[in-house]
Amino acid sequence: MAHIQNTRLNTGAEIPAIGLGTWQSKPNEVRYAVEWALRAGYRHIDTALAYGNEAEVGEGIRASGVGREEIWLTTKLDNPWHKRVQEGIDSSLKSLGVDYVDLYLMASSLFAHWPSSTDPSDLSKHYPDWNFVDTWREMQKLPATGKVRNIGVSNFGIRNLTKLLNDPSCKLVPAVNQIELHPNNPSPKLVEFNASKNIHSTAYSCLGSKDSPLYKDQTVMELAAKKGKTIQQCLLMWNLQKGRSVLPKSVSKDRIERNFQLDGWELTQEEIDRLDSLKGRFKVCGDAWLPVKVFFGDDE
Ligand SMILES: NC(=O)c1ccc[n+]([C@@H]2O[C@H](COP(=O)([O-])OP(=O)(O)OC[C@H]3O[C@@H](n4cnc5c(N)ncnc54)[C@H](OP(=O)(O)O)[C@@H]3O)[C@@H](O)[C@H]2O)c1
Repeated sequence: MAHIQNTRLNTGAEIPAIGLGTWQSKPNEVRYAVEWALRAGYRHIDTALAYGNEAEVGEGIRASGVGREEIWLTTKLDNPWHKRVQEGIDSSLKSLGVDYVDLYLMASSLFAHWPSSTDPSDLSKHYPDWNFVDTWREMQKLPATGKVRNIGVSNFGIRNLTKLLNDPSCKLVPAVNQIELHPNNPSPKLVEFNASKNIHSTAYSCLGSKDSPLYKDQTVMELAAKKGKTIQQCLLMWNLQKGRSVLPKSVSKDRIERNFQLDGWELTQEEIDRLDSLKGRFKVCGDAWLPVKVFFGDDE
């Protein structure tokens, strides 16, 4: 039977496998969600400057009574802040009301987090004189400041990761690549590439996000019913048994608690194979709205 364990990153730090997602949580919801999650046993919270909820996340952490050192806290640099990495982290720390974050990811805009260095004066433009390699050069200075314990990336495909890793200025391999992963966007090549570089994959939109089509998928529904588990628990277990950490978002106390009940059972190989063989494909976060192309179809 599976016992949900932390994963050791290439830095030696241990990231808890189940984190609470906070994107699209409405104002006045997320502070309670964070508090409930920590009281239910979660020790990992995922937020971002771009979600506009870092202050509430900080309130939830303090209200929970759980010590800061016990919690893994991830936040993200926003796209229009690529030239202002130090200011970006200072802004996040101030809003969160903490001295450090456990993981700082490049980068974001509006709602998702991308290798796109956007001009703050015109978000439809990419800087002509700056790209994510420059941003990474600045991010690499952060662990020495004590403000950030680990650095990583988000939404990097194989092509962009290769560019980053091959650049002579790249001294620190990202500890994590946070990417969209669920049975309708399994990205096997990208996951394998991450692993080959000792980069941990964290699964976002791991339930398929808001109004997830996976909740109405006949195969998933039948599997969950037969298993006596919720659809969401089965989807989370699919990622966990493949070695990825997960970030289920909910603002409902009951769902937050149930999403965390993943210890002591597991999917059989046959059940994993059934989820692997789903034919549907969708991506919650595409790149059509970005000034640069991010996805190159190299992850299937
Ligand atoms: N790096 C990036 O670019 C990026 C992009 C997207 C997301 N993320 C991170 O990943 C996290 C998760 O992704 P996500 O927010 O897209 O969605 P998700 O976690 O895949 O799905 C969340 C949706 O499922 C519902 N839900 C959760 N548990 C449920 C349950 N047990 N029963 C029924 N419905 C349930 C939630 O509704 P309720 O809240 O009403 O329960 C919400 O509508 C985000 O919150 C964010 O922290 C990162």
